[in-house]
Order: sequence, then C-alpha cells, then structure tokens
Amino acid sequence: MAPSLFNRTMLPSFLSASLLFGAALSSPSERLQSRETNLDPAININFPDPAALLDTDGTWYAFATNGNGKNVQSASAPSISGPWTVLSNDLLPTVGAWSNGANVWAPDVRIIGSTYVLYYTATDAASTNQHCVGTATSDTILGPYTPQSDTIACNITAGGAIDPSGFTDTDGTHYVVYKVDGNSVGHGGSCGNTVAPIVPTPLMLQQLAADGITPVGSPIELLDRGDADGPLIEAPRLILVNGVYVLFFSSNCYSTTLYDISYATASSVKGPYTKSSAPLAVTGNPFNLTAPGGSTATADGKNMVFHANCEAGRCMYETTITVSGTTVSIP
Ligand SMILES: *[C@@H]1O[C@H](CO)[C@@H](O)[C@H](O)[C@H]1NC(C)=O
Ligand SMILES: *[C@@H]1O[C@H](CO)[C@@H](O)[C@H](O)[C@H]1NC(C)=O
Repeated sequence: MAPSLFNRTMLPSFLSASLLFGAALSSPSERLQSRETNLDPAININFPDPAALLDTDGTWYAFATNGNGKNVQSASAPSISGPWTVLSNDLLPTVGAWSNGANVWAPDVRIIGSTYVLYYTATDAASTNQHCVGTATSDTILGPYTPQSDTIACNITAGGAIDPSGFTDTDGTHYVVYKVDGNSVGHGGSCGNTVAPIVPTPLMLQQLAADGITPVGSPIELLDRGDADGPLIEAPRLILVNGVYVLFFSSNCYSTTLYDISYATASSVKGPYTKSSAPLAVTGNPFNLTAPGGSTATADGKNMVFHANCEAGRCMYETTITVSGTTVSIP
C-alpha cells in the first residue's frame, strides 16, 4: 500500500530511506498504487518557500525567498486558489543592519494589530556562513518594510536560525517558529549533515510581546530531526485547528527528490509534538511533482501553498488540505 511505503517506522536511516524510495519508484505495481495527480503551478516563476496571508480587504498575498531581482517577492490573488498575479514590489529593499544583506529567505507576513510584521531570514554580517531571523514592519502589506536593527534569533554556534513563521494562539499570544540551521555546521553529506556526528536541526518556538517583534523569554525546542528525516527538518509552520496544534515541516535535503512536507501534532502549543506516521506529500505522491516542501498552511487549516521543482526553479503550488483530529490529508 502506498501510505506504508512512506511510513516513518519503515525508514530506519537516510540511506535505507533513499534505497526504499528508489525501489518504490522503480516498481510498476507500487507506482500504480500511488496517486500522481497532475498539479499546475499557482505561480510559474522561481518563488521558493512561499507564505500566504489573507489581508483585511479579502485579498490573498503570497511571499517568497529572494529572486527575480527582489529580496522579498510577492504576489496577490482574489482567492487562495488564484489566479495569482506576481507583483513588482520588493517588500524589503533594505535588510536589517545585523545582516550583510545577502540571502533573504523564507519571509512570512502576519498582521499584528494594525501593523504588518515581516519575519525573514538573512545572512549574518559577522558569521557569513550562518543566518539569523529578523523582523520588519510596515503600515501597508506591500511595504517597503522598515527593518528592526536587532535579530530575534541567531544561535550562530548551533548553526544559525532560518525559516521563521508567525503564529498567534487563541489567547492572543504571538509566537514565531523557526529552524536552528544545524546542518550548516554539519560534517558533510546531503545538505551537509549525513556524516556523523549528526548535528541537531530543531524547530524552535519563541514567544513574542504584543508588538509581534520583541522576544519574551527564551525559545523552546518543539521537534528535532530523526533518522527518517535524513539530514534535517526545516520550514516550520504552526496552525491550530479544533484544539490541535499542527506543526508542518519539511524533511530531507531540498535539492534531492526526498524533500517532503511532513507534520507533527500536539494538544499544547509547547508540545510534546508527535510526528505523523507518514509525510503529507513526497515526490510523486499525491502530486506528480518533484521535491515538494517549504509549505505554509493557511491559518484556517484548509489550504496550503508550497514549492516544488519546475522549469523556472522552485514554483509555488497550492492545494486544499483537511485537518481531522491529528490527521492531515490532501483530499
Ligand atoms: C541553540 O540551538 C540549540 C540546538 O542546536 C538549542 O539546544 C539551544 O537551546 C539554542 N539556544 C538558543 C539560545 O536558542
Ligand atoms: C508527470 O509529469 C510529467 C511531466 O512533468 C509527465 O511526462 C508524466 O506523464 C506525468 N505523469 C503522470 C502519471 O501523469
């Protein structure tokens, strides 16, 4: 059965994961059992690590990693399912002074009161192999956003901090989740972290003050990689649906066909989080796409944007999702 092919308990290590996956792709009977629905890009340009936000006027916006001459790319649509129009704005023409301005990755925008808050990754000015997470604010959704001069997460010795995503709990408490980029200080192999000793790549939860930008207390760890995740987990996104906290993430190296969209669930925002028995999306299942990942589920848990390989690089795709208890599925 296709689902059990991707069952985490059957994937004791990165090596056997890749062998098993190769076997799955080469076995005609297994291929028949997997769904390979064709899905067209929602945004057919290089638009990696997309985030999506419903603005107060009912317009949807999407944001993406630097590319096409911009630090923060954007697009808008009348509905999450499109049609999407790529916008010419660069939302963050000036990066925080803590950064050398390079590699503005995985932006996310959240509405905090009457302010738009942009969370983003960029290269640290002092440790140029590592990244930190910064914030910027604007009165309008397309900016330009004014960067804060301080980071909200760095952890350089552990590998830096990347992939921020905002979350507001039902009690109004603001958080940001992000990844400690341990594989950037790994010892080699796929994405730098399949050679022992394997370095942790935990997803962290940082509470924020009412302004959505000032850290409150220390970050706590929500989840870390395991053998089935290969070198890393990354690209966290937290939502709350019917009392269940759903933490989406990607496993494995983005430049390989093993990259995926996975999730873990908890009944408390601080965890403990339990990984699902199988990823939500992998290469060829349920979509005829390669290396799906970098997802952002909408706050209502009904839709998801993500990237997958395409001719232009990594295009944005969109799908409906269903969250039922602690199970997420793609209908
Ligand atoms: C830095 O990351 C490590 C995980 O590699 C974590 O244990 C530690 O708590 C983090 N420290 C801070 C200050 O975020
Ligand atoms: C998957 O997409 C490729 C093109 O990207 C196409 O050649 C192939 O026929 C598709 N497979 C299925 C099962 O539709």
